[in-house]
Parts: sequence; C-alpha cells; structure tokens
Amino acid sequence: MVTGPIVDSGLVLLREAGSVWSWDGEVPMPADERNTRLADARAAVTMIADRVDHDFLDAAPHLQIVANVAVGYDNIDVAACRERNVVVTNTPGVLADATADLAMSLLLMITRRLGEGERLIRSGEPWKWNMFMLLGTSIRGRRLGIVGMGDIGTALADRAQAFGMEIVYHNRSEVDPAIAARLGAERVELDELLATSDVVSLNCPYSDDTQHLIDAHALATMKPAAFLVNTARGPIVDEAALAGALSANIIAGAALDVFENEPEVHPALLELDNVVLVPHLGSATVETRGAMADLAARNVAAVLAGRPPITPVGATQPDDD
Ligand code: GLV
Repeated sequence: MVTGPIVDSGLVLLREAGSVWSWDGEVPMPADERNTRLADARAAVTMIADRVDHDFLDAAPHLQIVANVAVGYDNIDVAACRERNVVVTNTPGVLADATADLAMSLLLMITRRLGEGERLIRSGEPWKWNMFMLLGTSIRGRRLGIVGMGDIGTALADRAQAFGMEIVYHNRSEVDPAIAARLGAERVELDELLATSDVVSLNCPYSDDTQHLIDAHALATMKPAAFLVNTARGPIVDEAALAGALSANIIAGAALDVFENEPEVHPALLELDNVVLVPHLGSATVETRGAMADLAARNVAAVLAGRPPITPVGATQPDDD
C-alpha cells in the first residue's frame, strides 16, 4: 500500500514485487480508508505527512515493512514497529545534494535579500537602481556553522566552501577526518557554533533531543548580524521565539523550508521582511523524488523477498543525516 502519489518508476518496481494499491488523493490519506487498505497490506510506502503509530500498526496485522519516502522518520514510531517486527526504512543519501542545494539557495536568498527584491518588483512599487538599494551581506570569508554533519550537512559544507566560507560544525560524532580536512572544518560545541557563526544551518534529525534546540536562549547567543537557515525539521526551532528574535533584531534574518506546525506558518513570520519562507522543498527535484521512490520500492522488494532491507533506520546510518 502506497499512502500517496509517488514517481512512476517506483510504482513499476513495486509492481514487480507484488500487487500494489496506491492513494492518489491529498496526503495524508483519510484514516478510515487507510485502515481498510492496511488490513491485508504486507508493505506500506509512507510519506512524512503520515503518522505511523500504534493506530496505524493495529490496522496492519500482516505488515512487514514501512518504507518512508524521506530521510527523516520522526513521523514513525520506530520502537512500536520494532516491537511488532516491522522493518522501517528511509531514503538517505539520494536526497543529500538536492537538500544541500536548497540550503545554499536559502543562505544566498537571505544574505542577499532576494525575497525582498522579488516582493518589491511584484508589488508594482516604482523602483530605480541606486547605490544603496537592498544591500545584503557578502559571504566570502564568513563562518558557516552546520548543526548536524551527516550527508546533507557535508554536501552543504562542500558548496559553502566553494563560496569561500569557513566551516565549523556540531555533531554527536567526529566526521571522517579526510572529509573534515578537505573542508577545513572544525568540530565545536553548539554554544561556540552559535556565538561565532555568521550563518547557522540546521541539518540534524528531529528528535526529543533536538526539539527547540534553537530557542530564545540559543537565538540570543547568536550574533546580531547572523542568519539562521532551517532545511531540517520545523520543531527544531521555537518558531514563536524566532519571530520575536527577528522582530527585535536579535538576529539579522532567517530562511526556512520547514515549520513547527507544518503546513501552518507562525503569523508573525509572514509579516517580517527579514525572513525567507518556502514550502518544504528540500528534496523537490524530479530526479531526487524519482531516486527516493525507487529506493523505497527496492527496500520493499528486498523485505518481501526475505532479504535484508537496503537502508534500515537505526542500523548503520549516521545519526545526523
Ligand atoms: C524530507 O523532509 C525528508 O526527510 O526527506
């Protein structure tokens, strides 16, 4: 059972593994329809909008695998799945470049005030070039602090290095020394990262440990001229505190792809000019969504054939993807 539309190549692979039913409507699918379909499902291909909890699993007595079409799996109660011997897989790696591209785009948008420029032109207000119009901040030589140095954080560091930025990171573990040396990246404590970075980018998973990691205190630790970029998960940031910090110029700006109560956005953020807002587009390229669907399908095919999953969660993957 596939809980939402996915790229055709994924469906083709799934059909080679068994009979497929997929929901073509809005995600998440209605719970009653979902529960009816789960009754005889052996595999569920899920989206981040699905909550895979005890209710979901109670409706699915034959389930062997939940294949989430995302790298993040905070929508899944992994312990409940494990209790019932249901394998959980995600889609690491294949979306690192697309998500790092988006993080770099947001970094450039907020430091160069591109959202404000776009809004100015679309507003119909008359404008003329002048020496001081919408001056932004140069990033060459500035420090980027990456919170969560997994595949995505590392891919962002590669991009930022090409723009002449200095990289520091905060991660539970040291990264491969060869990668750290290539990037000239130093591992620092979170407080030091926040206090010294010109741009802070969140690239860590969402969990109890990272909920509101960026709260009023963390924002006050940042430099007044610093920017925050979040392409990870909304609840890592206390959105009300962020709106307060942006209005009070505690930090200079923020660029957000994810929101605390997605798809809602804190109303105060919508009123502010020093914030860029995009609707959870991190992995949204044709190529990447295809690769994610294919990897989810290959995980399903492996488990249904009695083979080990390719990308099980909580096994061999880095913590900080
Ligand atoms: C998207 O948010 C993902 O986790 O892949």
